[in-house]
Amino acid sequence: MAIRILGTGSYVPPRALSNFDLEKMVETNDEWIRTRTGISERRIAERDVLTSDLALEAAKRALDMAGIEPSDLDLISVATVSPDRPLPSTSCMLQKKLGAENAACYDVLAACSGLLYSIEIANAMLKAHKKYRYALVVGAEKLSSVTDWTDRSTCILFGDGAGALVLARDDSGTEEDKEFFIASKLGSMGKYSDLLQIPAGGSENPATHETVDAHMHFVKMDGQAVFKLAVSGMVKACRETLEEAGVDPEKVAWIIPHQANMRIIDAIANRLELPLERVFRNISKYGNTSSASIGLCLDELNRDGRLKDGDYVLLTAFGGGLTLGAMLIKWYNKK
Ligand code: COA
Repeated sequence: MAIRILGTGSYVPPRALSNFDLEKMVETNDEWIRTRTGISERRIAERDVLTSDLALEAAKRALDMAGIEPSDLDLISVATVSPDRPLPSTSCMLQKKLGAENAACYDVLAACSGLLYSIEIANAMLKAHKKYRYALVVGAEKLSSVTDWTDRSTCILFGDGAGALVLARDDSGTEEDKEFFIASKLGSMGKYSDLLQIPAGGSENPATHETVDAHMHFVKMDGQAVFKLAVSGMVKACRETLEEAGVDPEKVAWIIPHQANMRIIDAIANRLELPLERVFRNISKYGNTSSASIGLCLDELNRDGRLKDGDYVLLTAFGGGLTLGAMLIKWYNKK
C-alpha cells in the first residue's frame, strides 16, 4: 500500500494590487516593501468571491489532473484562517459547490502551516482506513477579508489564493517505491499565541460595536518577533525531517518554503546551505497567502514541468499559533 499524488491545482483571483497601489492607501512605498519583503504585488478577490470559491477553482484543476470525479472523493480538507463563515466549515461549503456528496469534510486551522498539517492528517487517514481512497487537500485564503487596510505593517504582506492536491491510497502493491510521503516534523508553540492573531470574533471577544471599532477582527502581528522564530523554527524542522528520512540536504531537488518574506526564505536557504536555484519563490507575485502558499508553489512547479520522477521536495512552513513544520515528499508524475 502506498500514498500517491495524483494531481495539483491552484487559483488566484485576477485582480493584482501593486505596491504602487498601496502607496495611495497607506504611508508606504514600493522600495520599502520590495527590499523588506520581496513582494511586488498580491492578488485580491472581489467582494462576492469567497474562500470556498477560490478553493473550488483550485480543486477543479487538481481533480482534472488526477482524472477523478468529485463523487470519487472520500475526504475533503480545507486549511484556512479566513473561512467563509465561523460555522459551517469551508470544506462543507466546498463540498456543496463541487457536488462531492460522498466525502467527509473538515477544516484545519494551523495558519501558514495549515497545508502541511492537512497533508499529514490526510496521509494518516488514507493509510489507516481502507474505506478512504481519494483525499482532496486544499489550502485556501481570502486574507483580504481579515486584513486591516489602515495598518501598513501588515496590509502590505497578504494576498488571496488557493492551492490543492489530490492524494490516493494505492493498494495494488505493484509500485511500492512510489510512495509520496517520506517524513515530517510538525510542531506548535502556543506560548507565542499573541504574536500573530485575530483577537476578536471568537469566545474571548465576540463581535461587538467596540471590537469592530477597534479593528479587532483583523490580523495583528509582531513582525520582528515572528521573523526570528520563523527562521530558527523552519530550519530546525527541516533538519529533523531530513534526519528522520536519512536524506542529505544535497539530495533535495527543491525546497518550497512558505512564502512569508523573501529575507526569511533566503535565511533558511543560507542556514541549510541550499543553493538559491533550488529554493522555490513566487512571493513577489502573490505575497503571503498563508494556508494557500505551499499549494500555489507546488502547482506552479508541477505545471511548469520542473518536477521530475523521484525528486525529493522539502516543504516547510511557519505561522500563527505559532505552528511550524517541514515535510519531505517524493515526486512521481502521473503516467
Ligand atoms: N512601509 C514603510 N515603512 C514601514 C512599513 C511600511 N509598510 N511598515 C513598517 N514600517 C516602518 C516601521 O514603522 C519602522 O519605522 P521606525 O523605525 O521609524 O519605527 C520601520 O519601518 C521598521 O519596521 P520593522 O517592523 O522593524 O520592519 P522589519 O524589517 O521587521 O519588516 C516585516 C517588517 C513585517 C516585513 C517583517 O518583520 C516580517 O516580514 N516579519 C515576519 C512576517 C511573517 O512572516 N508573518 C507571517 C508568518 S508566517
